[in-house]
Amino acid sequence: MSRTVPFPTTRYQGSKQRLIPFLDGVISRLSFRSAVDVFGGTGVVSHYLKRLGKQVHFNDALRSSHATGVALIENDAATLDLERARELTRAAPGRAYDDVIARTYRDVYFLPEEDRWLDVTIQNVQSMDNRFERALALHALFQACLMKRPFNLFHRKNLSVRLADVQRSFGNKTTWERPFEALFVKAIESANRAVFDNGLRHTATCLDALACPLDAELVYLDPPYVRADGATFSYADGYHFLEGLTRYEEWPDRVDARRKHRPFKVDGSPFERASSHGEALFALLERARACPLVVLSYRTDGAPSIAALEAALEAQGRDVAVHVKRSSYALSTRASGEVLVVGARTRG
Ligand SMILES: C[S@@+](CC[C@H](N)C(=O)[O-])C[C@H]1O[C@@H](n2cnc3c(N)ncnc32)[C@H](O)[C@@H]1O
Repeated sequence: MSRTVPFPTTRYQGSKQRLIPFLDGVISRLSFRSAVDVFGGTGVVSHYLKRLGKQVHFNDALRSSHATGVALIENDAATLDLERARELTRAAPGRAYDDVIARTYRDVYFLPEEDRWLDVTIQNVQSMDNRFERALALHALFQACLMKRPFNLFHRKNLSVRLADVQRSFGNKTTWERPFEALFVKAIESANRAVFDNGLRHTATCLDALACPLDAELVYLDPPYVRADGATFSYADGYHFLEGLTRYEEWPDRVDARRKHRPFKVDGSPFERASSHGEALFALLERARACPLVVLSYRTDGAPSIAALEAALEAQGRDVAVHVKRSSYALSTRASGEVLVVGARTRG
């Protein structure tokens, strides 16, 4: 890898951050100039590909992930001054602020004063003119929110977990108690360090995978994981609060008030339901038929099976290689390992 630009530490379900060396061992040997990262998430794989000197198209269906893609992949020069970042967290004299979060999420995720801080900061961020600086601020705001959440998620109304005065085997009370402003500015600093130019133009889109242009020599797929027993994780549910931040005006009309954790309602993804995941994944592979290289991140116990995915890629006239990285609990009976399936078009 030609560059050593650090990627910010993120807290995101299924992030490939710790697996970059494994991916690099496989991907750096392939010959390609451009890549599309269809389920981009934190952007860590796109950033790796950018460091590798490739032209990168980042995509993710969530607007929160898209903002990170704009900030850290598409953006090649803009950074955010730290004093300016601090100013974003203070109410501007004379400006009237809405209180969507304070009135919708009282005692759900954050303390009342933290809800008010979020209401002010997000409205200041929305008013920023420069789209790259705005995306950097959004990215940092998301990181600050995740750092303050038990399990780094919004899937439950569980502020009480953070407040309970008990011995815990999980979580990070020290981080939870740090002021939002300090976490936000720290996240801006890390994001600023990740901004760089590799001499090529990159794009970030916010599309469903089945509508995303697969306009590159390498298609990288890291879809939501569905275990063989049908267990799934919904990104739309786990990160709904960040989605609300990206759509602040619409937020009150999109809250599902019947549920305790008041999720922001978004259209469900076919990749996040066990009943439609397989069909969606095969349809996506079919859409990638013309692309020279398909690289799929997967797990040994995923559904559909690796054998079925291999067969689908071979039927397109590809040579298929399966690289397995066993995880530390590989010897247990529920062995599960990270896999990279590489389908290279050499025939047909
Ligand atoms: C396993 S994560 C990707 C993690 C990413 N490679 C990383 O290292 O951060 C799967 C991602 O797919 C996104 N996603 C789910 N359904 C999608 C769809 N239909 N189209 C595009 N993205 C989708 C989720 O928002 C989530 O960010």
